[in-house]
Amino acid sequence: MTSASPPGAEPQAVLSPLTTAAIFLVLTVDPGGEERVRDLLANLPGLRRSVGFGSPDGSLSCVAGIGSEAWDRLFDFPRPAGLHPFRALEGARHRAPATPGDLLLHLRATRLDLCFALAALVMERLAGAVTLADEVQGFKFLDYRDLLGFVDGTENPVGREAREAVLIGDEDPDHAGGSYVIVQKYLHDLDAWNALPVETQERIIGRRKTSNVEMDEEASHVGLTTITGPDGEERQILRDNMPFGSPGRGEFGTYFIGYSRTPDVTEEMLAHMFLGNGAAAYDRILDFSTAVTGTLFYVPPAGFLDDLPGPPAAGVLTGRPAREPVPGAAPQTLGPAGAAPATHPAVGDGSLGIGNLNRSTTP
Ligand code: HEM
Repeated sequence: MTSASPPGAEPQAVLSPLTTAAIFLVLTVDPGGEERVRDLLANLPGLRRSVGFGSPDGSLSCVAGIGSEAWDRLFDFPRPAGLHPFRALEGARHRAPATPGDLLLHLRATRLDLCFALAALVMERLAGAVTLADEVQGFKFLDYRDLLGFVDGTENPVGREAREAVLIGDEDPDHAGGSYVIVQKYLHDLDAWNALPVETQERIIGRRKTSNVEMDEEASHVGLTTITGPDGEERQILRDNMPFGSPGRGEFGTYFIGYSRTPDVTEEMLAHMFLGNGAAAYDRILDFSTAVTGTLFYVPPAGFLDDLPGPPAAGVLTGRPAREPVPGAAPQTLGPAGAAPATHPAVGDGSLGIGNLNRSTTP
């Protein structure tokens, strides 16, 4: 077992500013694929440099996150204190499902081609070792608007505030400089949303649509996701949401991604949205936005990838039974127009039943 990253360790590129393009890859590690995944993680910084070096203006970055079930299969190293499977939420009207994911790759750049080139290299290296749970290509829409038409990301913390909101410190010294990230893929019913008067949309979001000025609306999305700690100080996360979709297939979505120092903060926001808070029974954004995935990952600091801890004892890797479904995960379908299923119930061979990435074995 190698030494832990020192406190104050350099994080992965979690603090990168909003970009114009992103690819989100969520993968599960096939039984026996662990060593290949470890190799990929160790080589990821080099692969990023290979693709990004020739286009410095492209600001290509790649953040890797590890899911709860995968941790003990990949590393002989203490578990991050807050790493657990995503907790599904069952509200009176809306639910947040938990869906499988052992590995998250969050690729960002000012050009989609750079994200694409790196994603292709990564998947080539992982062929036969992982199964794709979900892939989303996100884009900047107009002046950083989501597909509901509102500017998204305004209240993100910056600078020191962002580092304090996002990076683990002395509370978990083995993982200082790391972070947690929750991702959720939302699909919008844009016809229903666009049928609402703009003032109603504004009261649901809590901001003016054109001017982006905040309103005083406790029961709005902004009101429900503004949370404070016992000392009355605001508890923040760093979001890098991206619109995605396919007008031809009638698919319009927001890929939610929120980094935080502890998952509690994002979990409390989610509880307010799905289970309600104060006068609000739930966040009305959910009447027009359906969560179809939900996964939590730990993002180790950069030095962890450069100096990967050893693998677990051999028995842990080879003796592992076929994958159990993540608690709370349910079969989901992306919805409109025959889009690919987002997640699948586990099948007996331990895969998710959507084919292996090794093309020679893919039907
Ligand atoms: C359908 C998915 C979502 C959409 C379209 C969306 C959109 C927005 C918009 C337009 C704003 C206002 C501008 C801004 O400050 O960014 C906002 C604020 C915010 N959202 Fe979301 N959001 C979504 C999901 C979520 C989720 C799942 C969370 C957390 C679990 C979240 C947390 C926040 C926070 C913390 C703020 C800032 C609140 C403040 O003003 O302090 N959002 N969101």
